[in-house]
Amino acid sequence: MSVASPVVELVKAGFAYEDGPAVLDGIDFAVPEGRALALLGRNGSGKTTLLRLLSGGLRCGSGALRLDGEEVSYDRKGLTRLRTTVQLVVQDPDDQLFAASVGQDVSFGPMNLGLPEEEVRLRVRDALEALDIVALEDRPTHLLSYGQRKRAAIAGAVAMRPRVLIMDEPTAGLDPHGQERLLEALGRLREAGTTVVMATHDVDLALRWADEAAVLSPEGLRTGPIAELLADDALLDAARLRRPWGMAVTRLLRAHGLLASDGDAPRTAEELDAWTTAKEGRQPAPVVTE
Ligand SMILES: Nc1ncnc2c1ncn2[C@@H]1O[C@H](COP(=O)(O)OP(=O)(O)O)[C@@H](O)[C@H]1O
Ligand SMILES: [Mg+2]
Repeated sequence: MSVASPVVELVKAGFAYEDGPAVLDGIDFAVPEGRALALLGRNGSGKTTLLRLLSGGLRCGSGALRLDGEEVSYDRKGLTRLRTTVQLVVQDPDDQLFAASVGQDVSFGPMNLGLPEEEVRLRVRDALEALDIVALEDRPTHLLSYGQRKRAAIAGAVAMRPRVLIMDEPTAGLDPHGQERLLEALGRLREAGTTVVMATHDVDLALRWADEAAVLSPEGLRTGPIAELLADDALLDAARLRRPWGMAVTRLLRAHGLLASDGDAPRTAEELDAWTTAKEGRQPAPVVTE
């Protein structure tokens, strides 16, 4: 038996907007089941375009989109198959939310699938719980804070029970507390087995959260383990991305012989603290989240 095919995959995909130059050209991008994948690139590098190709909102100009190894046909049947597997949450929640209340909005997708009322209710409940917004169910969407609207929009996608949840800059515009709550929600979804793809230009967040990275630069798309890609200065320069803080710390620790070259590198301030604690045998500092 061959290795399982990726859930969803772009093969030699190219795309140009009408009358525009190619935004993406010959891109191979595979999303294997169970991964946390960060799509990185500066503004305008094509992240949103790539995510829309992957979720079927845009159609490849060249190349193909595959679902479970099979090319997606862009007819009604093919797109339904795609949308029950892959869900995209767009960057601006106001482009996604449209119903009067949170509960109505989150129930729209499952209802549209023609599921029995009981099943719809169950899915809405689970999605609200996963995003920690059960208390907002009857709240009018236009009265929510930005962070609450973001979580309501994600709950709408989660209620479709996709195998792959794709999010475009989900933490953009959130304060630190909002970011933490979102990362906790994503942690719960991953534990439940959902594959998550996130576009971001926040390299620190990506390093902390993802196992794998895909980096868009003018030279194309590079994919691989995130700690490896974000340690590649030439790649970061080509993609015009900042060096992640965690990588700078790791480099310093290694240069001073404090961390073995194959030792696990701390990726966050909390992990750095835990690492020094273990080294010195002292009490960990309290974690400050806000
Ligand atoms: N609807 C559109 N029509 C024409 N050009 C677009 C459209 N959307 C994006 N672009 C262009 O495509 C390129 C990639 O944009 P985008 O995929 O939004 O990148 P990112 O999400 O990384 O910021 C940019 O040059 C952008 O100006
Ligand atoms: Mg974008």
